[in-house]
Amino acid sequence: MTRKLFVTTALPYANAPFHVGHMMEYIQADIWVRFQRMLGNEVHFVCADDAHGAPIMIAAEKAGLTPQDFVAKIAAGRKQYLDGFHIAFDNWHSTDGPENHEFAQDIYLKLRRQGLIAVRSIEQFYDPVKGMFLPDRYIKGECPKCGAKDQYGDSCEVCGAVYTPTDLKNPYSTLTGATPVMKSSEHHFFQLSSQRCIDFLQQWTQEPGRLQSEVLNKIREWFATDEQGHVSLADWDISRDAPYFGIRIPDTEDKYFYVWLDAPVGYLASLKNYCAKTGRDYDALMADPTLEQIHFIGKDITYFHTLFWPAMLHFSGRKAPDKVFVHGFITVNGGEKMSKSRGTGISPLKYLELGLNAEWLRYYIAAKLNAKVEDIDFNPDDFVARVNSDLVGKYINIASRSAGFLAKRFAGKLSADIGVEGRTLLDGLRAHRAEIERLYEEREFGKALRETMLLADRVNEYVDANKPWELAKQAGRDAVLHDVCTVCIEAFRVLTIYLKPVLPALAAQVEAFLNVAPMDFADASRALGAHVIGEYKHLMQRVDPALLDKLFEPPVIELPPPGGEPLADEIKVDDFAKIDLRIAKIVNCEHVEGSDKLLRLTLDVGEGRTRNVFSGIKSAYQPEQLIGKFTVMVANLAPRKMKFGVSEGMVLAASHADEKANPGLYVLEPWPGATPGLRVR
Ligand code: 2FM
Ligand code: ZN
Repeated sequence: MTRKLFVTTALPYANAPFHVGHMMEYIQADIWVRFQRMLGNEVHFVCADDAHGAPIMIAAEKAGLTPQDFVAKIAAGRKQYLDGFHIAFDNWHSTDGPENHEFAQDIYLKLRRQGLIAVRSIEQFYDPVKGMFLPDRYIKGECPKCGAKDQYGDSCEVCGAVYTPTDLKNPYSTLTGATPVMKSSEHHFFQLSSQRCIDFLQQWTQEPGRLQSEVLNKIREWFATDEQGHVSLADWDISRDAPYFGIRIPDTEDKYFYVWLDAPVGYLASLKNYCAKTGRDYDALMADPTLEQIHFIGKDITYFHTLFWPAMLHFSGRKAPDKVFVHGFITVNGGEKMSKSRGTGISPLKYLELGLNAEWLRYYIAAKLNAKVEDIDFNPDDFVARVNSDLVGKYINIASRSAGFLAKRFAGKLSADIGVEGRTLLDGLRAHRAEIERLYEEREFGKALRETMLLADRVNEYVDANKPWELAKQAGRDAVLHDVCTVCIEAFRVLTIYLKPVLPALAAQVEAFLNVAPMDFADASRALGAHVIGEYKHLMQRVDPALLDKLFEPPVIELPPPGGEPLADEIKVDDFAKIDLRIAKIVNCEHVEGSDKLLRLTLDVGEGRTRNVFSGIKSAYQPEQLIGKFTVMVANLAPRKMKFGVSEGMVLAASHADEKANPGLYVLEPWPGATPGLRVR
């Protein structure tokens, strides 16, 4: 019976390009999806940008864009990664799409009708300058325990203490530097603490086969149990006050869903959007009791997907997910973890730009993956070894050692009747099909590839024992050569099927070379017979380790010249001494009639008289801002006769070379204590 599967990966925040951690998750899910399709199952595989939340709103503001435009820009960059690594999502959408607004509000209203929404007033830090409640990450201050400065609101990076933002000493908003004040507002809560929710979640999470055992153990820790054995969960705060980039909460003016409320709803929104685009009936699909809903996620977001999300679905009258597949992080060189915020390590785009083959990475990642919640490490030497000795050395070589003889000596036609030895070998390979299918199904990709490579070893032993290159030189051995090469090609075809979920592009090349239709798993059990294959072209190169070195080289950043202009030619200290710079007090300042650029300054340079200086700073200052201030002037500049009078010197001010692109003009001011006439040297 064929299965119907609705598969997703976590929706990435639309505030940065993908890093290798995203690619690992997409590759894992993509392999599983391709495998399911090769079994003939129906799969709908979707994703979307996670568009909402305070960080994206603030990043957009910094970039001078609306959040919508900001998100659209990030979304436009997605395709090159997905295509580049052969990730075959059926749809890519956004949580800011209309379907998501509709679904999130509908879910909320149904939860409310169920009596599961509570409204309570809570006190939180508020930035009075920005006019906004501050998420914890935007509050810093001194650690209440060790006094270290500039610590985040949840924990101290110096002494490791854990606390809440209100515990910080001298807290400040990282957005404006303002001291936050406590302010209360009404928040909406999803009452996970209700017995109905607890009962449902205990039953849902413990359904045999639903979750990985490590995940279940974590969940048990999250359910707090008191002495009487009562299990509890805290209610979940699902609202945020304006200003917020998100979906408005029905029947409120200024409250929005917290991004994590509408993010997973985006799975449904993307599926609905896909159904609309492809003429499918979304409601019928979701109503189908055989549809399996499966989410691939990273371990850091397990809580959201195994507690909040199933409860939201269930109590809004929907079916909760069937499975949540949790994976670990990818680290690089045994080192730092590839976190979402610090996307350091391997740049996926640089990988492609260097000409590294996307399927090497797919193969390498697959070879490291299992069904556990374990981190995997990207190790360059290991990468080179696995690709060069396994993939190319063991697998590709089987074709490259046999295809030429078939083309040259037998017009590409396979032998219809191979001998016993060859048949035994091929039967052996085919006998592993069920086991390899099981391993893919269980996401034991590393084991599936290991099995496949062991089978490749067997084929290579057969090649070494039969030596087609020697048979080719011996008279009267044509029939044997024909059989041996046919066995090799058949074996290569079976191995290609076993590798196809991981190496889809290579498999397509092999299908063209073998002159066969796209292969699925069942094709492994059939023989080609007296089939004519196409021309062999080299299928895959070995990795050049030098390219991997390049991948890890820090990027050369071309710095723009400071202030927009290169430094002037070098001078000697004597040259500098020719310029006599003095502290001047601005005793008066006024507009210059008829000039839209100049201000007239009256300067005291400690000479017992004042000087008249015209300065082009009108765009930046009002005269009254300057009166009484000190500044620096060039005091030995020859007097210049101007349209409005004689200018007896020049005041120093800083500006960017390209004032249009980088406006701003800043008159120099000495530190307090400087008096008129002091020389600047
Ligand atoms: O952690 C993250 O990157 C989130 N953007 C994942 C959201 S997954 C789903 F809920 F949308
Ligand atoms: Zn501390």
